[in-house]
Amino acid sequence: MRDFRRLLASFLLLAGLAMPQDGNAATPAHPHDRLAPTPPMGWMTWNLFKEDISDKLIREIADAMVAKGYRDAGYTYIFIDDAWQGGRDNRNNIIPDPKKFPYGIKALADYVHSKGLKLGIYSDAAPLTCAGYTASLGFEEQDAKTFASWGIDYLKYDYCNAPVDVETAKRRYAAMAKALRNSGRDIVLGVCEWGPRHPWRWAYDAGGSVWRTTYDVRDMWKDVTGQGGMGILDIINQSDTLSQYAGRGHWNDLDMLVVGLDGKGGPSSDLGGKGCTADEYRTQMSMWCMLSSPLAMTNDLRNDDPTAKDILLNKDIIAINQDDLCQPAVPKGRVSNCRIYLRSLSGNRWAIAVMNDTDKPQRVALPFAKAGIRGRYSYKEIWTGKSATKASSWKGSLRPHQTAVFLLSK
Ligand code: GAL
Repeated sequence: MRDFRRLLASFLLLAGLAMPQDGNAATPAHPHDRLAPTPPMGWMTWNLFKEDISDKLIREIADAMVAKGYRDAGYTYIFIDDAWQGGRDNRNNIIPDPKKFPYGIKALADYVHSKGLKLGIYSDAAPLTCAGYTASLGFEEQDAKTFASWGIDYLKYDYCNAPVDVETAKRRYAAMAKALRNSGRDIVLGVCEWGPRHPWRWAYDAGGSVWRTTYDVRDMWKDVTGQGGMGILDIINQSDTLSQYAGRGHWNDLDMLVVGLDGKGGPSSDLGGKGCTADEYRTQMSMWCMLSSPLAMTNDLRNDDPTAKDILLNKDIIAINQDDLCQPAVPKGRVSNCRIYLRSLSGNRWAIAVMNDTDKPQRVALPFAKAGIRGRYSYKEIWTGKSATKASSWKGSLRPHQTAVFLLSK
């Protein structure tokens, strides 16, 4: 047997293929890559509405997503998070809370689909979810079939109330991935164990299409109260060196967008989440797109404010997130006290982000060569729309926590 493996390894080597290893470079594509070829985009219930969710809310959000142009901009999922469950029936089928979802999830999914949108749902790899509702451990096959029969398109699979070791996590996620594969429907698996077991190393092989890199995002720039919450900058700091693990069909998930929440309450206002400035929200959108994170909006789209809407619907930044080359940005050091990131794009184009992570305004002189690309380029700065031709650098100023993103082509 060992001889056969050695023979196989030499054959693969000769054929120019590698055995699966850590990271993206040598990992062969998995069939589930086709489920989320580019990062999933949509709207998620948790950050603002927490347990206060219902059939009515989801239908109204679906209507708003269509009427206000979010669906057509690419936000096609509605992700129902925790607190939809109403236990199990006498055949152990998981059922929705009849008060919140009086017509059942199938009828809701039909409505969502009729609007050209997809529906996501939530469970947990343990007996109970984080908020204490019925979860899927031991019922993976049965629940996956139920989700498929309802027309579910995405499962966010959480990890509360589960053992801490990595091997159990791998097994539990692989069990749900297999159950989804056997369910008769394409359902994307979102791994949500928050990062402590380094899911970027194994969640893709276990069958996941996206994996959270950190604990929950709060509506703040960074943790200044020392309560351990994750602000926008804290999440960037924990995620910007993980790009090598992502690629077509498998993505680092930096958690939900807080754009437009303005400290209005819900779980993202815990642990010091008092709201952000427009520059900080723009930085979140810029960096989530540069780093190819799924984009899950959480503000109330029925009453969206114009600033949030402008940020969330910016076509150029969304196109970077969804770019077909599927190569998330990498950090390229600092210039003029600011950070720079470079992303290669399809069609011989590049994106450079310059982020002022200091608390003071900065005057910036950015030779593009500093970001790793030499020569002269045409560029457009996507938040101001200013453009130039035959440029090899940019000079300007950035307010505290502001990010400029340049789209460059030859
Ligand atoms: C957390 C998860 C959140 C949300 C919440 C629901 O573990 O990270 O995004 O899903 O559970 O209880």
